[in-house]
Amino acid sequence: MSLQLSAEQLQQIARQFGTPVYVYHAERIKEQYNRLLSAFDGVDAKFFYAAKALTNINVLKYILSIGCNIDCSSVNEVKLALKAGFEPQNILYTSNNIAFEEIEEAKNIGVHINIDSISNLIKFGKKFGHSYPVGVRLRPNIMAGGNLKISTGHANSKFGVPLENIKEILDVANETGLFIKTLHIHTGSEIKDVEVFAKGIEVLFEVSQHFPDLQVLDLGGGFKVPYMPGEEGTDIPLLGKKVKEEFDLFEKKHDRHLQVWFEPGKYIVSEAGYFITTVNVIKNAGNKIFAGVDSGLNHFIRPMFYGAYHEIDNISNLSGAKRAYNIVGNICETDTFAEDRQLPEIHEGDHLVFRNAGAYCFEMSSHYNSRFKPAEVMVKDGKTYLIRKRDELEDLLKGQIEAL
Ligand code: LLP
Repeated sequence: MSLQLSAEQLQQIARQFGTPVYVYHAERIKEQYNRLLSAFDGVDAKFFYAAKALTNINVLKYILSIGCNIDCSSVNEVKLALKAGFEPQNILYTSNNIAFEEIEEAKNIGVHINIDSISNLIKFGKKFGHSYPVGVRLRPNIMAGGNLKISTGHANSKFGVPLENIKEILDVANETGLFIKTLHIHTGSEIKDVEVFAKGIEVLFEVSQHFPDLQVLDLGGGFKVPYMPGEEGTDIPLLGKKVKEEFDLFEKKHDRHLQVWFEPGKYIVSEAGYFITTVNVIKNAGNKIFAGVDSGLNHFIRPMFYGAYHEIDNISNLSGAKRAYNIVGNICETDTFAEDRQLPEIHEGDHLVFRNAGAYCFEMSSHYNSRFKPAEVMVKDGKTYLIRKRDELEDLLKGQIEAL
């Protein structure tokens, strides 16, 4: 059983801070990280939290406090990680399609960098030769992940250097002395099947023989977490076992030790997050009952953008008789959170909680319709902390210049 915040705790937070509000449960984050540590016991593995899932500075500090490293997807995330207190050697920067200047900036900070194009590898090699180790992001040509938008390793994907261009990487290394310490793949998000990771390992083992400086294989993130009731996530203990077997075998066969890195985002924070809304309007409209909440795709876009399923609870009426509802937002286009969802009877003023709201939820929010972003709250050691105040009108005008 995993740690959960109770309906009473969430009700109390809604009353104290208002809604819409995101809530993150610190110990639940730690629980996930500890699951990784125990599943990979005996493996030379390092975990880098993919910060893009949720970057509130308090979350980053908490991640640091439990001993996890961090993976960034922009130089700004790198700067946030530094601000949170991470040392550069524990920061990984996995970019794609960025300007060389940004790579240089990251190099000057001293973080590990995964480069994902021949063009930037040439520039890096020419400028820094063998003096600064880098990672190369490969495209393993493996189709995997919850949906096409979050599938990143397939043969038509923009990410990484395609496997078939390995020779070009080697040429760059020969010509410039480039020090390739790491080979990286990230095949997609929400990969349930352990065999997909095994296939990735196979691909990397195969090419690793061409890279004499290689010390690390970085398998990216993508562990699936359960979103629907009864659904199962990636079998992490099985994955740990498989990785151990494969890496031990490789070491024996080639007399060569490689470390393995992972960059989990969802796995670390998704289930620690709750999003609490209030029902503004109940509308009986023909054969549908709409429950319209004080939020929308501006705050929580996953259902609309990916067709993602998020479990919803009516914490104001946990045991009422169930009916089918369309849970919708207040934005000026169709923003359906859930269709024909069976929920205990909903009244105006009830609090609906969306689960699995830790990863890519607040982080993908916007000011669309000039609405304020929600507040964020963290629960740690049973105490409740406001970690982002709700926006005010000035936040909508921030950065704008009244030039006319
Ligand atoms: N490493 C790299 C290089 C990535 O691009 C990503 C995610 C991760 C690690 C972490 O993947 P995770 O463990 O969280 O699956 N907004 C989407 C997910 C996009 C993931 C993008 N890259 C969603 O809400 O499903």
